[in-house]
Amino acid sequence: MNKKSTKDILQAPRGMRDFFGEEFKKRKNFYKIAEEISERYGFSGIETPIMEHTEIFQKGVGEGTDIVDKEMYNLTTTGGDKLTLRPEGTAAIMRAYIEHGMGSLQGAQMLYYSGPFFRHERPQKGRYRQFYQFGLEVMGSKEARYDAIIIKTGYEILKSTDKEIIVEINTLGNNEERKKYVDILRNFYMKNIDSIGESDKSRVETNPLRILDSKDKNTKSVNENAPSILNYLGDDSIKHFNIVKKILEENNIKYEVIPSLVRGLDYYEHTVFEYITINSDGNKSDALGGGGRYDGLAETLGHNKSVPSVGLGLGVDRIIDITDINIDEKSNIIPILKLTNSTNLDIYIKKIIKELNNIKKVIIINHIQKFDKQIKFIKKNGYRYFIIIDEKIIKENKIILRSLKDDINEQININELKNRIREIYKKL
Ligand code: HAM
Repeated sequence: MNKKSTKDILQAPRGMRDFFGEEFKKRKNFYKIAEEISERYGFSGIETPIMEHTEIFQKGVGEGTDIVDKEMYNLTTTGGDKLTLRPEGTAAIMRAYIEHGMGSLQGAQMLYYSGPFFRHERPQKGRYRQFYQFGLEVMGSKEARYDAIIIKTGYEILKSTDKEIIVEINTLGNNEERKKYVDILRNFYMKNIDSIGESDKSRVETNPLRILDSKDKNTKSVNENAPSILNYLGDDSIKHFNIVKKILEENNIKYEVIPSLVRGLDYYEHTVFEYITINSDGNKSDALGGGGRYDGLAETLGHNKSVPSVGLGLGVDRIIDITDINIDEKSNIIPILKLTNSTNLDIYIKKIIKELNNIKKVIIINHIQKFDKQIKFIKKNGYRYFIIIDEKIIKENKIILRSLKDDINEQININELKNRIREIYKKL
């Protein structure tokens, strides 16, 4: 056994951290925002144990993946049970879905969860051995619109960080198409075995898909001529992918199709995706989150029915590390006050909500009350900024943006509201 000095013991284990002060608040606030947005989309919470039977991940995530082969924290209890600290959530949530017969409930189950996950990776910035995810799963539906709902909900959560978010997306086709493609890919790498990087050679047999997103320089140049999955899809898979893309376009979600995006877990079919942002050096960031469809997972785990599903995991540590999520939770809410109580102003309220959609949550203060009572409410609840609709200027599409804490009391056009609010919040 590796004997540690007292100094070593008085430090958290490698790749594991303590959170307190501002950092603690930021993290707490992130979960709050993520839960609020998820609940708005119809998700409800679930919590599962931090350990599962080892086989759940061996079968679910798959032998041959880095997670199962190298990164799991496994233990044997004194009673002889083999348990694993969860390296990811999806296989565990599927186990819970099956155990509690959620398939017999009406409609697809829309679940969110959060908490620590464990992978024995080499620690570095953005990569920890104990890391945290906020996850979403829709279980029990094949419909492509759920792939889009998952992507959109995650996108909206990430947008609350005020960063530019890009969705990288791909499809792996259905199980058969994927298998056929893996064979084609394996043949391709066999032919090019001498030209690919050393560390990728062993993957030709076990997991050729993963070679596609290799970081090795030699492999990268071989990959320029690798066959693309997009040429091996059947009509149904193309249709499924097109529906997902169309809904993203309708919702103004920026995406890029990346045919080499395959993800590191075995259970995916059809849609896979990752969210990235652009770092201050102009390069793409590591994935802030990712997910996809996993129609075959329930059966892989030994269930007698298929449970078509789709989901995502957001990497909370990375999101907090590279973005500047507001620590004051009240500052993510913008109340609207009406100076006079007239219902023909409602159309403008809708316009404001639409304009601020994705960046702040808008709430409408009870307008029956007198204006000074509304202001008292703002003070008492500590809202940082609020909007006042004044009939005199709203006809010119203008509102008043005000703060009682900062020196702000200005008239602005509704169309400029989003940029102005972003500007103000950046300075906070
Ligand atoms: P994953 O891509 O392995 O997917 O993890 C999701 C996110 O967790 C990553 O994009 C990254 O931001 C974060 N992450 C992963 N490993 C680490 C680490 N060592 N340190 C810090 N952050 C990390 C899954 O886990 C799937 N269960 C997602 C999913 C849900 N697919 C369908 N449903």
